[in-house]
Amino acid sequence: MHNSRMGRVIALAAGVAMSCAAMAGQAFAAPPPSLPGDPTPQVVGGSPAAKGEFPWMVRLSMGCGGAMYSESLVLTAAHCLGSTGPNTSITVTYGVVDLQDSAAIRRTSSYVYKYPGYGTSEGGDWALVKLSSPITGAATLPITTTKSFDTGTFTIAGWGDTSEGGSASRYLLKAQVPFVDDTTCRNSGAYYRDLIFNAELCAGYPGGGVDTCQGDSGGPMFRRDNNNAWIQVGIVSHGDGCARRNAPGVYTEVSTFASAIAAKAAELGGGPTPPPTGKVFENTGNVDIPDAGAAVTSSIAVTGLTGKAPATLKAGVDIKHTYRGDLVIDLVAPDGTTYRMKNASSNDSSANVITTYTVDASSEVAAGTWKLRVQDTYSADTGYIDSWKLTF
Ligand code: ARG
Repeated sequence: MHNSRMGRVIALAAGVAMSCAAMAGQAFAAPPPSLPGDPTPQVVGGSPAAKGEFPWMVRLSMGCGGAMYSESLVLTAAHCLGSTGPNTSITVTYGVVDLQDSAAIRRTSSYVYKYPGYGTSEGGDWALVKLSSPITGAATLPITTTKSFDTGTFTIAGWGDTSEGGSASRYLLKAQVPFVDDTTCRNSGAYYRDLIFNAELCAGYPGGGVDTCQGDSGGPMFRRDNNNAWIQVGIVSHGDGCARRNAPGVYTEVSTFASAIAAKAAELGGGPTPPPTGKVFENTGNVDIPDAGAAVTSSIAVTGLTGKAPATLKAGVDIKHTYRGDLVIDLVAPDGTTYRMKNASSNDSSANVITTYTVDASSEVAAGTWKLRVQDTYSADTGYIDSWKLTF
């Protein structure tokens, strides 16, 4: 970013807390297509999010958005905040789409970390807000650690202005915007000429119409990863007006700062809750495996754990069978994601599968019903699931 743009951004940063708060800004500026069942199909530039759809979305009291990074840290935009240091002035609202919902969970901030590169040629419009006490069991939005997701279609959400210069939304709105490459973004006009390629990520339609806007700042821009899980790729930062033609929204490029964010979070003592370890759940009920038949399953209900499953989830299986090459074995996560642990192999004539598989289940929520699925793919030999267990 060069001086002309820095001046602009700094001015925005300086004025943002007040202007966003005053405007109660929210997000989308132009009418995205309304969805069937929209209570207010005439909502401008976005459609209402369902309660729980983006459970890690939070509203900050100065008029910005944010995303839960851990139970006690919110990732938001640097320009939403004053300076690094103790700060008890921010109220964080979690767990609702309606800001007037009495079920809202609220916390006060205790500390703010504002990335020092912001406002310099490096860029980095991000900040972490520490809560005075954790929101235990809060949903969190993982940040991308690779640039491979900095493309495609992104989802944006916020309580910001529903049109440029308009008013904020009481309800959380969402919309989708396509990726805009750096060169196209920079060439969108004078406003964009100092785009910081490595620190900023653009998104929006050439014709405008859908965008974040004042009051959405600090909120996440996110998409699905290869496991179909939500992953944060951007932070609402700035733009030339809202939803104008050839005027993309500019977002902090999270991938560039992912390791700095993780390091600072760890230092603030509020990094992602480590997955629980050592808890064992077992099912010892026998399940017959039909010969060359349909797959059978044995379930384990996992309760009492919060957060994600570990990257080294251990699935110990004890399957009695007279020709184990016949067997295909999968682990099915609570959300239905299937992890193949063993394929059939016609030349493995040994008996029984008594072993422990290690599964990278780090994108799965630990709690819920897990299933062992076993299928006998060849006729003649038979067997049964004797027992199996999961170690978290
Ligand atoms: N700086 C604004 C805020 O503080 C966000 C602007 C986003 N603008 C855009 N056209 N996408 O809320």
